Amino acid sequence: MGFDTIIANGRVVTATDTYTGDIAITHGKIDAVGKSLPSENAGKIIDAGGRYVFPGGIDVHTHLDMPFGGTTSADDFETGTRAAAFGGTTCLIDFAIQYKGQTLRTAFDTWMQKASARAVSDYSFHCIITDLADAQLEEMNALVREGVTSFKLFMAYPGVFMLDDGSIFKAFQATAKNGGLVCMHAENGNAIDVIVQQALAAGKKSPKYHALTRPTTAEAEATSRAIALAEMAGAPVYIVHLSCNDALEKVREARDRGLPVYAETCPQYLYLSLDNFDVPGFEGAKYVFTPPLREKWHQEKLWQGLTRDHLQVVSTDHCPFCYKEQKEMGIGDFTKIPNGGPGVEHRMSLIYSGGVAGGRFSVNRFVELVSTTPAKLFGLYPRKGTIAVGSDADLVIFDPNRKHTISAKSHHMRVDYSMFEGIEVTGMPDVVLSHGRVIVEAEKFLGRPGAGEFLKRSTYTQP
Ligand code: URP
Ligand code: ZN
Ligand code: ZN
Repeated sequence: MGFDTIIANGRVVTATDTYTGDIAITHGKIDAVGKSLPSENAGKIIDAGGRYVFPGGIDVHTHLDMPFGGTTSADDFETGTRAAAFGGTTCLIDFAIQYKGQTLRTAFDTWMQKASARAVSDYSFHCIITDLADAQLEEMNALVREGVTSFKLFMAYPGVFMLDDGSIFKAFQATAKNGGLVCMHAENGNAIDVIVQQALAAGKKSPKYHALTRPTTAEAEATSRAIALAEMAGAPVYIVHLSCNDALEKVREARDRGLPVYAETCPQYLYLSLDNFDVPGFEGAKYVFTPPLREKWHQEKLWQGLTRDHLQVVSTDHCPFCYKEQKEMGIGDFTKIPNGGPGVEHRMSLIYSGGVAGGRFSVNRFVELVSTTPAKLFGLYPRKGTIAVGSDADLVIFDPNRKHTISAKSHHMRVDYSMFEGIEVTGMPDVVLSHGRVIVEAEKFLGRPGAGEFLKRSTYTQP
């Protein structure tokens, strides 16, 4: 009996190594890695000559089929995981939301229902906690035991998602004991709400005011408070969607002190800025998400943060709302624009292009940022996040020279605009495999809804 599939002659890249070799796959797992593996009896041979082979991308921050701001995000688990696959991302960690008065179990069951028959590739959930009574503290332990080992808490959106500092501290105490990881949305929601009300009263209602009412200091203050609360409880913390240098400085200082503090940024903060609001009419609504876009100079600071390991992960915070009818809900009042932007499809190419082709970091660091560290922090390693015998055969054959101009006309996300319209990237996925099956090849989707598996995750390990 031979291998099911051999990916032959690619430049195999992990977070630590780059070499030319073959990868053999049997029953959806990597069975062997070597030079000139025996191919006579292989079911299929894919020639990866002249291209990279990466572990599948892992995006640990998406919002599929999420009710938010009076509407629901436009991609469901089928369209979202399919678009992700076109971009070389084969595993998502989405968010199951506990609404006030609900159990955490209800949140988990609700999101399992949304995902299980639709996802084309593997998925898992962080649980968003909006109401933390003693019963939920016990439930956090139960969820960790069942493989939901991370929780998102909000310091913003008072009255909707925001938790008070006492509850946040209790959650950190719980994760310090049960091994879970708190993902923090760090913005000072109360101060922001005051600024927002003052702007509205002054008649400042266009989309740009979404950004101008959420200062970088509000993000830095909350980041620093989150770190302090985690430190007091003896717990790790993961700051989500970090957007600016002020917050980055807080993370860097904490890491310099040896604290288990981690942070992600997203492609929109690396490629877009306040300048994107200088568009006609209401079109700035396409760039309304939270934290907001910042002055352009922050971009290079964030790229440096990725190079120097002050930031450990790039996720997308993919939360798509169509411009027509969804974003348009906020015409005349920026606070009614549903917050979020689409990005799950282009993370790998944008980060490869700006990071590796742009000369900022190595191809190994790229793999670390988009796959290996996400897997380690969120309890998926070494099943995911690397190319090793026994790992899932979630793999991407990536052409480092292929150029592509991003456009809503050709993307696969179910949304009527692109935040990155017209940006040319260098480096595109050619072939994408999930569990050893080719799901994207020659720009065609070959996967199947429901083929994705729910991933029970271990507790976090220090990357
Ligand atoms: O604007 C955003 N980011 N929408 C999604 C929710 C969140 O805070 O991540
Ligand atoms: Zn958030
Ligand atoms: Zn988010």
